[in-house]
Amino acid sequence: MERTLIQDLTKNVGKEVLLQGWVQELRNLSKIKFIILRDRSGDMQTLAFKGETPDDAFNLIDTVTNESVVEIVGIPKENKESRWGIEVMINSIKVLSESAVPLPIDNSDKSQTNIDKRLDFRFLDTRNKKHHAIFTVRSKISKIVTNFLDGKGFTNINTPKITTLGVESGAELFKVDYFGKPIYLSQSPQIYKQMFVAGGFERVYEIAPVFRAEKSHTTRHLTEFTGVDFEMGFIKDETEIMDLIEEMFIDLVTMLKKEAGDELTLLGVEHTVPTKIPRMTMKEAKEMLKAKGRSYKDDDDLDPEGEKLLGKLVKKKFDSDFVFVTNFPWEIRPFYHMKPEDDPKGTKSFDLLFNGVEICTGAQREHRLDILSEQAKEKGMDMKDMVKYAEIFKYGCPPHGGVGFGLDRITQRLLQLDNIREAVLLPRDPERMDP
Ligand code: 4AD
Ligand code: MG
Repeated sequence: MERTLIQDLTKNVGKEVLLQGWVQELRNLSKIKFIILRDRSGDMQTLAFKGETPDDAFNLIDTVTNESVVEIVGIPKENKESRWGIEVMINSIKVLSESAVPLPIDNSDKSQTNIDKRLDFRFLDTRNKKHHAIFTVRSKISKIVTNFLDGKGFTNINTPKITTLGVESGAELFKVDYFGKPIYLSQSPQIYKQMFVAGGFERVYEIAPVFRAEKSHTTRHLTEFTGVDFEMGFIKDETEIMDLIEEMFIDLVTMLKKEAGDELTLLGVEHTVPTKIPRMTMKEAKEMLKAKGRSYKDDDDLDPEGEKLLGKLVKKKFDSDFVFVTNFPWEIRPFYHMKPEDDPKGTKSFDLLFNGVEICTGAQREHRLDILSEQAKEKGMDMKDMVKYAEIFKYGCPPHGGVGFGLDRITQRLLQLDNIREAVLLPRDPERMDP
């Protein structure tokens, strides 16, 4: 007999079916026994009656433990009173894999188990419907973004995660021993994205791990996260990248509502599809914040509290969850960001904030090698130490720009999760390397 998924039971009322899944809940009364069975598609009440259900099946249920994997053959029947509208009368039951009891964590909806303990037993934790739903949504986000970028002519590339090249900030590099030679874990595909814009693809993207040796203990930083990076050639300026991101988020929210509506409902989140993402310069953002009593110097970055407040002010003024902050000061941007013609202290760059948290950083890149070398010098670097990077710009490199998102942060913000760790199956932070 072929397996039937729980979601397809309503189509099989009255017909004998074979179900396979985990025992979510057991209730043994003297004359009637219930097993709530769960598979990847949902859960369902199955039941056995003394005298009606074959004795061996009825008696076996007493020995079954919670979270064991079982196979049940039975007949779905309508029952208006059950919350499923149907239930399954057990004919036979077989234990495929017994679960030890008690479980090391409580994975029920009423669970008080703290996140640390939950992460130690993540594979039990994800058997909870809500936690499972987070990763269904995350998977959809990846797919929707991938489809969107494919539709815009981007090529999905894979670049090395073991590298000698770093351009973000030296302090954030993880050094590893590579047959006795020092080498780093990639902190961004930045260089390789630019390399293959110049390599004739014009438009490339990558969804892959990014490593940052940041000793941050916050609810939005990890030492390993999943970067969603894209880079595009032949742009007139950075606004073209922002236009594309705007379109991407409109598409993302629209498609998520269609494809993960049930999961969003289960997780209690509602989203209105954005139509336009407001844009303001860093200067304007600081003025808005100054009016609320916060103070910043010209070259300062926004602090997390400032970003949070800005998110609230933007929501009030523009009724938008998103905002682009543009024209970041040169002082706080990497050397490869292009400067505007008329503003040597600025950059043609932006961040996108989502409900007051940075989810991406992007910019037009400096593709003119002479100017790039000057900019490196200004930051105390030397292009001679980055020969492989310099070569990209020597043999015909189009004007280009791009952006890096954190998939984990997008998921966290979209699902309004308190902690980024909720959005990552097995997060890595300065304290957590296992499992
Ligand atoms: O702002 P970041 O460092 O920018 C870059 O990596 C550039 N190369 C991107 C570019 O193309 N210009 O990182 C990009 C995004 C952040 O906005 C954030 O969403 C996420 O990556 N991110 C982190 N997520 C989790 N933990 C961390 N430690 C993160 N650091 C950055
Ligand atoms: Mg950033």
